[in-house]
Amino acid sequence: MQQFNFPTIILFGNGALAGLAERLRGQVRKALIVTDATLVKAGLAATVTSELQARGVDSVVFDGTHPNPIEENVEKGLQAWRENGCDALIALGGGSPMDTAKVIRLMATHTGPLAQYDDAKGGDKLINQPMPPLYAIPTTSGTGSEVGRSGVIILRATGKKTIFFHPRLIPDIAVLEPSLTAGLPPHITAATGIDAFTHCLEAYFVNSFHPLADGIAQEGIRLILKAMPAAYANGKDLEARGAMQMAAAMGATAFQKGLGMIHSLAHPLSARYNTHHGLANALLLPDALAFLESRPLDAAAKAKMARMQDLFREAGMAKATLSESCRGFFNALGVPFGLRNHKVPQADLAPLAQDAFEDTCHASNIIPVKLEDMLAVYTAAW
Ligand SMILES: [Fe+2]
Repeated sequence: MQQFNFPTIILFGNGALAGLAERLRGQVRKALIVTDATLVKAGLAATVTSELQARGVDSVVFDGTHPNPIEENVEKGLQAWRENGCDALIALGGGSPMDTAKVIRLMATHTGPLAQYDDAKGGDKLINQPMPPLYAIPTTSGTGSEVGRSGVIILRATGKKTIFFHPRLIPDIAVLEPSLTAGLPPHITAATGIDAFTHCLEAYFVNSFHPLADGIAQEGIRLILKAMPAAYANGKDLEARGAMQMAAAMGATAFQKGLGMIHSLAHPLSARYNTHHGLANALLLPDALAFLESRPLDAAAKAKMARMQDLFREAGMAKATLSESCRGFFNALGVPFGLRNHKVPQADLAPLAQDAFEDTCHASNIIPVKLEDMLAVYTAAW
């Protein structure tokens, strides 16, 4: 017996934001909009506020989330929640405001300290109270956090990124409004989109029985191969932007199966050098796939690699091997390859490999990997 979970209500397309506001009319008195200062400056918070106001829904903006959110961001957000007597949360932004909003939601009805809810220590079992509604409005197309059930916060006591997980942390409604991503610059469009691509690919590669997620992952890849070059070339192409938003949500839906070695290799780059997460995946993915191509694979793994290459072929973007197809695709998106070009000293490759090996994502990799394999991929990507 297995259990399959699929996400939440998704409002998609032009008018999705107005659609959310309409649903909140008469339901929500005052929403706390959790976002960051950049999005306030870009006018996106005001766009949300005015849609709400037009339907008699009051709101207050909390813009104190850091790019890698810390415990203090949650505390300040919680203070704003209480002082303003809010009754719903709206997360607006990329992964960071989403993470922060999810954990504010948790702490709105659970007593402190936050650290006791650490998922790695079984903290999910203490999450047992009803929580206020949360609506998620992504402004990037990458993490898919709007359909995710966990939030990551750096705890004060340990300084470590800590995961808070519970099925009920998933937003009640995800709002995919293409125009909200139209202002992303091309390099961010590429980096975030490649994160979504990596989610689909790694989830599809995981060896577990989940045909629903596998179908979603393949279609996500197909959408990305078609839409990302268009969104990269012209950010105002709302059809391409919409397809990328959908693909990002699909990637995160699929990766409930797990991820793989590419994410394990990418995480230490962000931890040590603050490399953008999507860019870190981009810098490592082609060499990780070349490593897989060099290994003896069973028939099932070979079939999965071949299926991904078929999708490149159907898009007219295939090169001789899957790793080369991906490298070609990323090159066309302006990915500046070479870890050496991203402040990574050669002497760091061995400690990076150690960190990557300790990361848990590769536990579900398509084939088991060793410490020396991590070093080999970093060396090839350097
Ligand atoms: Fe990712």
